[in-house]
Amino acid sequence: MAIQNIVIYPAEILEKKCKPVTRFDKKLAKLLEDMYDTMIEHDGVGLAAPQIGLDERIAIVDIDDEMGTIEMINPKILKTSGEQTGPEGCLSFPNLFGEVTRPYYVKIEAFDRKGRKYMLEAEDFLARAIQHEIDHLEGILFTTKVSRYLEEEELKGEESE
Ligand code: CO
Repeated sequence: MAIQNIVIYPAEILEKKCKPVTRFDKKLAKLLEDMYDTMIEHDGVGLAAPQIGLDERIAIVDIDDEMGTIEMINPKILKTSGEQTGPEGCLSFPNLFGEVTRPYYVKIEAFDRKGRKYMLEAEDFLARAIQHEIDHLEGILFTTKVSRYLEEEELKGEESE
């Protein structure tokens, strides 16, 4: 278990399009474990590799539901539909929350740590978290999508991604 430091905005790595993963080896498995430990340590519901300083297309999401931890390597959005607006935060922007509008539904394909391709459909908050993390891999930060920043009294235990 190795908790990594979170890269805080501004930092060049956070606004960079990350490179695809080509090796599905033990090093990748260890990195995913470290990302999980780091996300949990910081009470996050998602974490992308650039947030620990790595230029790689790797992200994890865990919103504490029956899906458990979703590991997304080289993820691609296949389809989106609908719309949702809700509060969002990010571990790279401590104590900053804003309303973001995103598709309600998302269908993605990605690879797991063994290099097996899978497809996943998600709605609502899980879809929001997945899209937030995939944005990180493109160097897109949630602040570029915020329609309104939220004051502390408007937040009730929001978690960051
Ligand atoms: Co984030």
